[in-house]
Amino acid sequence: MTSPFRASADTPADPLDALAERLGGIAYGGDYNPEQWPSEVWQQDVRLMREAGVNLVTLGVFSWSRLEPRPGVHDWDLLDTVLDLLHENGIAVDLATPTAAPPPWFTRAHPASLPQNASGTRLAHGSRQAFCPSSPDYARAADAVVTALAQRYATHPAVVLWHVHNEWGNHNALCYCDTSAAAFRDWLRRRYTTLDRVNDVWGTDFWGQRYGDWEEIGPPRETTAFRNPGLELDYRRFSSDALLDRHRAESALLRDLAPGIPLTTNLLGTLEKKVDGHAFARHCDIVSVDHYLVAADPGNHVDLALNADLARGMAGGRPWLLMEHSTSAVNWQPVNVPKAPGEMRRNSLTHLARGADGILFFQWRQSRAGAEKWHSAMLPHGGTDTRTWAEVTALGAELASLAEVRGTRVRADVALLFDWHAWWALELDARPSERLRHLDTVRDWYGALWDLGITCDLVAPDADLTPYRAVVAPSLYLVSDSDADALHTFVRGGGHAVFGPFSGAVDAHDRVRTGGHPGAFRDLLGLVVDEYLPLREGESALLSDGSRAGLWTERIEARGCTARLRFADGPDGGPARGGPAATRHSYGAGAAWYAGAALPARSLRDLLDAVCREAGAAPAAAVPAGVEAVRRSAGDRAYLFLVNHTDQEATVPLEGHTRLDGTALPGGASVPPGGVVVLREQAAPGREADRR
Ligand code: GAL
Repeated sequence: MTSPFRASADTPADPLDALAERLGGIAYGGDYNPEQWPSEVWQQDVRLMREAGVNLVTLGVFSWSRLEPRPGVHDWDLLDTVLDLLHENGIAVDLATPTAAPPPWFTRAHPASLPQNASGTRLAHGSRQAFCPSSPDYARAADAVVTALAQRYATHPAVVLWHVHNEWGNHNALCYCDTSAAAFRDWLRRRYTTLDRVNDVWGTDFWGQRYGDWEEIGPPRETTAFRNPGLELDYRRFSSDALLDRHRAESALLRDLAPGIPLTTNLLGTLEKKVDGHAFARHCDIVSVDHYLVAADPGNHVDLALNADLARGMAGGRPWLLMEHSTSAVNWQPVNVPKAPGEMRRNSLTHLARGADGILFFQWRQSRAGAEKWHSAMLPHGGTDTRTWAEVTALGAELASLAEVRGTRVRADVALLFDWHAWWALELDARPSERLRHLDTVRDWYGALWDLGITCDLVAPDADLTPYRAVVAPSLYLVSDSDADALHTFVRGGGHAVFGPFSGAVDAHDRVRTGGHPGAFRDLLGLVVDEYLPLREGESALLSDGSRAGLWTERIEARGCTARLRFADGPDGGPARGGPAATRHSYGAGAAWYAGAALPARSLRDLLDAVCREAGAAPAAAVPAGVEAVRRSAGDRAYLFLVNHTDQEATVPLEGHTRLDGTALPGGASVPPGGVVVLREQAAPGREADRR
């Protein structure tokens, strides 16, 4: 795989290594917004940061209106003072470009730069990210402030990392204004060259939509009935690319004006459907992500693990930074429940277990005003005499004691394919079932692997698959020809690949692959799907293992595959009664597996267990249910993280492990309820050497 990291003379060979050396260990800190507080508070801030073990803060994320109070007029007093103060106190800075919050004067002067929604309404100023990604006025103003910032602080000793923008596309990814329309047409011309090709890939002869002039093409604004799905899919690609262009433009300025300082941007993982996270990650020196738990979800720790594994996948297996999470409650869910005692530590160490080399929060000091004043922070409204503060200082000390773990890697035997393009396509209008949702399926499949204790990297379908024994593709409705070819090659060479329902049905343009479903994988799987048979709410189909599939079934005709699971005979078996529900097909030196149903948890676990066993992918350790075991290693150093998500003490029989202080563990480790232990492993003979 080509490394997502830029290798150039400007940045150190491994930017995260260099950063960690500078920080003296694992990064710890959060967003610091001193502009919200009088200057007297800043001294107290840095004193308390030191007390908490903070070594890195993200500064200036939304500070544009302070830094440039009038067009072209800069006021650096605040940043000058705070950067010096932080530096004097040994706290390094991840300096943000402030472009996620254009100032009021900017939008007043350029009202056409405000984004427009699909029904033609211009959104007003007064929140954040209120700009059209294609606005030339925004681009000019953003480039100017980034240039000024980089010129001023390129050599400031506190600045160790650039934080480009903030969560690209979180609020404004899809804009439907005339400027976006023109930029979309340019994007189409570059991608397809001729209008004939556009007509072809979008299938515009359907409903007489054939275009005769580029100017006839516009964004997928609100229409009388279904819009053209090819156009909608390409509009999502264009919109993601428009923001990526902004990311690249800011990055180019920073690289040029401040060579040697690596850059990152805080990606949103599965929190954000609208931008292609893999594409942005390829343009970062260090990958960082934000993750927030859905408090009402009892399985939210599995979503946390999923997103951590996605961060690692986006980082090409290297360590990454958790740029934001919360110490306790957020303020944007319907009911914002604080984290339970110990939960913040458990969350943080789980991210660490899965490859994070930095644990940061939104934000350092809880705001007293503004839209996020009820969002938790490292230093709460109540100050230092609070439970949160006690946990924050304890975590800082613990991370310092875990410094030796940084730089080690999580090595997964299994790749789980996660693709924004397949997500976009599956959830366009007019599908066999609106109930088959991309993220739901991915979560179900990831959850089954989590239950089995199998560590996996979430990677793009075009990732290098050679390091893996098995590839899991839960929801790959759309797949390009080249990615489908790579999967054939992987299996032919001895790998195992398992696909979820409706995978491989369409090409990269959302055109059905005809000749029998799923067109991309028919031969690989040794079967043909005669019909996709979605189920209504409340319906289910009995399976031969006694469980029931809801949501989705398929009528599968075996053409070389063997059925591992069948729909029951008789009416209880649903519309595909008697037919195969899950299959295995030997192909070359490997095997391809298929689930032609939305399998319930138990059946899915059994299927994935069989795939992993045959592929030789094993859990990091044998642990009781509800306990997570993940290994990080480098060379002959290895660490085992055990995370107990149950309310019972867990005993894990182990040999050859010690605590980090060297004390022995006779008979194994015990992990307190809701607790985490980190163990050092003796070099196990035969443990796989670094594969990447
Ligand atoms: C993030 C954002 C932060 C803050 C946080 C609250 O999406 O980057 O600025 O708003 O959410 O959870």
